[in-house]
Amino acid sequence: MGKLDGRVAWVTGAGSGIGEAAALALAGEGARLVLTGRREAPLSDVAGRIRSVGGEAHVQPGDLMRAAIVEKIGAFIGERFRRLDILVNNAGANILERDWKRLTPARIDEVIGINLSAAFYCATVALPFMRAQKDGVLIHTASFAGRFVHPLSGAAYIAAKHGVVAMSHSINMEECVNGIRSTVVCPGEVATPILDKRPVPVSKEDRARMLQATDCGDLIRYVACLPPHVCINEVLITPTSNRGYVVVLARCG
Ligand SMILES: NC(=O)c1ccc[n+]([C@@H]2O[C@H](COP(=O)([O-])OP(=O)(O)OC[C@H]3O[C@@H](n4cnc5c(N)ncnc54)[C@H](OP(=O)(O)O)[C@@H]3O)[C@@H](O)[C@H]2O)c1
Repeated sequence: MGKLDGRVAWVTGAGSGIGEAAALALAGEGARLVLTGRREAPLSDVAGRIRSVGGEAHVQPGDLMRAAIVEKIGAFIGERFRRLDILVNNAGANILERDWKRLTPARIDEVIGINLSAAFYCATVALPFMRAQKDGVLIHTASFAGRFVHPLSGAAYIAAKHGVVAMSHSINMEECVNGIRSTVVCPGEVATPILDKRPVPVSKEDRARMLQATDCGDLIRYVACLPPHVCINEVLITPTSNRGYVVVLARCG
C-alpha cells in the first residue's frame, strides 16, 4: 500500500526533468496523476510508464501562461476526481538572452509569465479544492535564485523565483487555518533539460556532479507524504559540489 493511495496530484512541467521525476515518485506512492506541460508527447510517455506499473495518469497538456487553459485543466480535475490533494507547481523556463543589455519587454513577460504568473494561476485553481477538503499540499519549484541574487540566472528569472518564494509563504499565512500547507523548494543546479538554455554550455562532467532530477523527485515525494499537521515551509537543496562556491574558493587560493 502506498502512502498516497487514492490521492490526486497535479504536476506541472511533468514531461521532463524535476516534474517527470516528481510524477513518477508520487505515482510510486499510489497517487493518481494529472500531468501538464505544453508538449503532449513527453507527457504521454510519462503517463505510459505510470500506467505500465498499474498506476493512473491523465495527460492534460496546455500553456500554463494562459489562465483560461489553467482553469480548463482545473475543471477537468473537478469533473474527473472532485478533489485535488497535491499540486506540484513546477513548470518553469529561462531564456538565453537574460542579461539586462538584451532584455526586452516580450522576453520579460515570457520569463515572469511561466515562472510566476502561471504558478499563481495554478495555485488559484488548486486552493478551492483544498479549502473544501480542509486538506492539501502545494509544492512549488522556485530556485536557489529565488533566495539569492547572483549573476547567473538573469534578472527576470531571479525576480520571478523570489516571487514564487513569497507566494508560497503567503499561502501558509492565509490558508493554514484551512488545513493547507505550502512548501517552496529552492534547488541549486539540477541536471535537467533547462540547462540547455544556459548562455555558457554545461559540460557532461559538471552535470554529473549536480543534483539529479530524481533527488528533487524524492524530496517532493517526502513532502507530499508528510502527515497533515507538518508543514515544511521552505527547502534549499543544492549539490554538495556547489559550483557557485567552488568558483569563489578557487579565487581565494
Ligand atoms: N535544473 C535546474 O538547475 C533548476 C534549478 C532551480 C530551479 N529549477 C526549476 O525547476 C523547474 C523544473 O525545471 P527542470 O529543471 O526540470 O527543467 P525542464 O526539464 O526544462 O522542465 C521544465 C518543464 O516546464 C514545462 N513548461 C515550460 N514552459 C511551460 C508553459 N508555458 N506551460 C506549461 N509547461 C511549461 C516544460 O514542458 P514543455 O516545454 O512541454 O511545456 C518542461 O517540462 C522549473 O521551474 C525551473 O525553473 C531548475
